[in-house]
Amino acid sequence: MAGTVVLGIESSCDETGAGLVRDGRLLGQALASSMDEHARFGGVVPEIAARAHLEAFTPVVREALDRAGLRPADVGAVAVTTGPGLSGALQVGLAGAKTLAHSLGVPLYGVHHLAGHVAADTLEHGPLPDPCVVLIVSGGHTSLLLVRDLARDPVVHLGDTLDDAAGECFDKAARLFGLPYPGGPAIDRAAREGDPGAVTFPRPLTGPRDDPYAFSFSGLKTAAARWAERYRARGERPPLADGAASLQEAVADVLTRKAVAACREHGVGTLVVVGGVAANSRVRALAEERCRAAGIALQVPPLRLCTDNGAMIAAVGDLLVRAGAAPAPLDLSVDPSAPL
Ligand code: KG4
Ligand code: ZN
Repeated sequence: MAGTVVLGIESSCDETGAGLVRDGRLLGQALASSMDEHARFGGVVPEIAARAHLEAFTPVVREALDRAGLRPADVGAVAVTTGPGLSGALQVGLAGAKTLAHSLGVPLYGVHHLAGHVAADTLEHGPLPDPCVVLIVSGGHTSLLLVRDLARDPVVHLGDTLDDAAGECFDKAARLFGLPYPGGPAIDRAAREGDPGAVTFPRPLTGPRDDPYAFSFSGLKTAAARWAERYRARGERPPLADGAASLQEAVADVLTRKAVAACREHGVGTLVVVGGVAANSRVRALAEERCRAAGIALQVPPLRLCTDNGAMIAAVGDLLVRAGAAPAPLDLSVDPSAPL
């Protein structure tokens, strides 16, 4: 017998996502982004994001249903991101999800945004190997996790960034370089023409006495600013391709070095890399190279599942439904600064 169709809703930042998952399979998804509206401000403006979610909610849910060939009455459960994220943005998604769950008479599940990023991989590669190390690298987070059973066991938190997230470092450096928002993809593109060895940027927290799983990226951003400034002070244009390639190399080096070390130390055979920065070409290539050398299997979901989307939230909802988890009460609230 076919299982429950779970509708997942994501609205924690600037993407309004809806996805439909049944028994670990993605049936359809749709996405709207307010990214272009934020571009001229150089970052996400919470008020604009919340209003955009409100406008996009119904069309995005309808489009996801259409793509899956389903009707609203086929939905058997609703899962929604409750945090972490922008408060107003989260509240729009939660209000919409509650309304849908209530009117359809189906259970509602609150989902942690980062659990969503982790579960995104299951839609491509099937159930996560138990155990696996997950590196979450997005605009808001940089975390190394030891994961067993997402629906049942608590995730073991190995390390986090002490300041900026990796994506934030790319976004801020791109702004300093005069590249467009969002900065990650712009740095990735600019880096193609550059020499990754041209500038020796620091590799923060990689010394023998440093916490092996903690990250720090704010110093890198400062180093990138100083590098560009040295040229500008002389009235010259900084060689941006070299700067971008070298910065990207430093970030990819630190991320993959620590992730592989975590696998080794915990005797784990699979590394999963998720989140928007998993889309970075150098992060992917270096992770592949280092995992192969260490005999570790690498899983990276396809790009459309790496960045924020509704399917990943539906994937967690599907795991919860199949694990027999208790649904959330209808007074479920958002938790913008939800801890991991
Ligand atoms: O996971 P995500 O869509 O949203 C958050 O939960 O933050 O990640 C967005 C982040 C942004 O910082 C963006 O610049 C970065 O992912 N990003 C990239 C690339 N594509 C997206 N960073 C580096 N290279 C890329 N190709
Ligand atoms: Zn995210």
